[in-house]
Amino acid sequence: MKFHVLTLFPEMMRCCLSYGIMGRAAEKGLISLHAVDIRDYTQDRHGKVDDYPYGGGAGMLMQAQPVYDAYLAASGGRAVRTVYLTPQGERFTQQKARELSGEEELVLLCGHYEGIDERVLEDIVTDYISIGDYVLTGGELGAAVMMDAIARLVPGVLGNENSAQEESFFNDLLEYPQYSRPEVWRGKAVPEVLLSGDHNRIAAWRLEQARERTALRRPDLYGVYQAKQLAIKQLSADKRNSIHMMESLKRGRGEIIYTSLWSGGEDIVLYDREAGVCMLAAENPEKGKNMAGIVPEAARLVLTAQPFLEDILTERGYRLFLRCRQVLYTQKSPLPVRHREIRRLSLEDFEEVRLCCAAGGEGPGGAHDGCGGQCEEPGGTFDRLGGPGVDEAYLRKRLQAGALYGAFFQGRLAGIAGIHEEGALGLLHVAQECRRCGIGASLEAYVINRMLEKGWTPYGHVEEGNEASMKLQEKLGLYVASKTFLWMEKKLANEADV
Ligand code: ADE
Repeated sequence: MKFHVLTLFPEMMRCCLSYGIMGRAAEKGLISLHAVDIRDYTQDRHGKVDDYPYGGGAGMLMQAQPVYDAYLAASGGRAVRTVYLTPQGERFTQQKARELSGEEELVLLCGHYEGIDERVLEDIVTDYISIGDYVLTGGELGAAVMMDAIARLVPGVLGNENSAQEESFFNDLLEYPQYSRPEVWRGKAVPEVLLSGDHNRIAAWRLEQARERTALRRPDLYGVYQAKQLAIKQLSADKRNSIHMMESLKRGRGEIIYTSLWSGGEDIVLYDREAGVCMLAAENPEKGKNMAGIVPEAARLVLTAQPFLEDILTERGYRLFLRCRQVLYTQKSPLPVRHREIRRLSLEDFEEVRLCCAAGGEGPGGAHDGCGGQCEEPGGTFDRLGGPGVDEAYLRKRLQAGALYGAFFQGRLAGIAGIHEEGALGLLHVAQECRRCGIGASLEAYVINRMLEKGWTPYGHVEEGNEASMKLQEKLGLYVASKTFLWMEKKLANEADV
């Protein structure tokens, strides 16, 4: 992750990447800082970057030209996400940090004085962010806060992968209390349960503590948590057809925009802001029509198991791109993985991933004779790999997020599988020449096992008619939901109806 910070005080920013975890991550090349001094780009011979606001008013404004030229120097003409730190922005949250940690580079623009000429903001800023409801003298401290919160979510920055998940704000609860040596300090003993070695008891105690602490310190968060728990409980009555929503809520991704579940109904509009995915369930077409009206403008994709919503969503500018069956793995025990050479992929593997997925059998060469052609497992694409949102940019994002795994054969990438942005298992693709050798099954089993380690229920979507994939799901022990699911994609504004 590369941070370009546009600032009048570059030195102030440099110290952020000099110490502790951030310092080590920078040394390892996992994160880097490009501090751009806006003053270097002024055309004023006295080095001035500010001037009086038109129409009068207190204070000075930063002028458009030096900010714009500093931005061009930082972005190099690439379409880089550009954040303006301002008290007028959207509140910075853990969710926003997670979203931004998926970018390869970010521009952070720090304002000073009374602000920045609106015209340059209109041209370059993609996100307006505030770190809290108070006014600072400039954006630098905000940029430092953002860099820290984002960098620690970049894969590899925190040694222990689990630690970024268990902490405060994961799953809408604050973190439970923690204790270290000595066992007794100033007469206070560590809670007995933590010394018991009983992992189930410890997990239950921690959850209870997290609940109590959240209720006491952050009743606002606790209200959201309780509402989601109630919705999960209602949805669990039809788990196979609702697992996508239950998991979205459990993993702290989905926000409930509307629901009648709390009063015994079946309607819900759930929005995963980060993935731009809206999940929709409606009791009947009439309600569906109203609910489609509150699907957020920014939702790129809508997932629903109600066929009558197809026409309603089509009217609202969406188009069907996948009719599929939902499959889920309900056991807790990990699956056996036959193929040995599977590992998490990183951005460095992008070129190989691209080649492996390219059409026309451009994948790794050489026949796979490991099974002597005896095994029967299919290994082809089983979900929306080739569909919308699964382009090179999406593959890069999933690599960056550490959500893609690769199986290697004779040192070359033979297939991939991973976890989609909203949390479904998928992206399974085996290179043409490596199919029917069990690599697909091993890859899927491997990803399922990673999801189980996180305490998730793995689920995915199999395109209707893909019998080979359906057989694979059954073989791995996944259940198939009774309803047909529709993935709808937002049409581009200038796209003709098809
Ligand atoms: N600049 C000034 N105040 C700010 C705040 N609260 N958040 C982000 N940037 C700022």
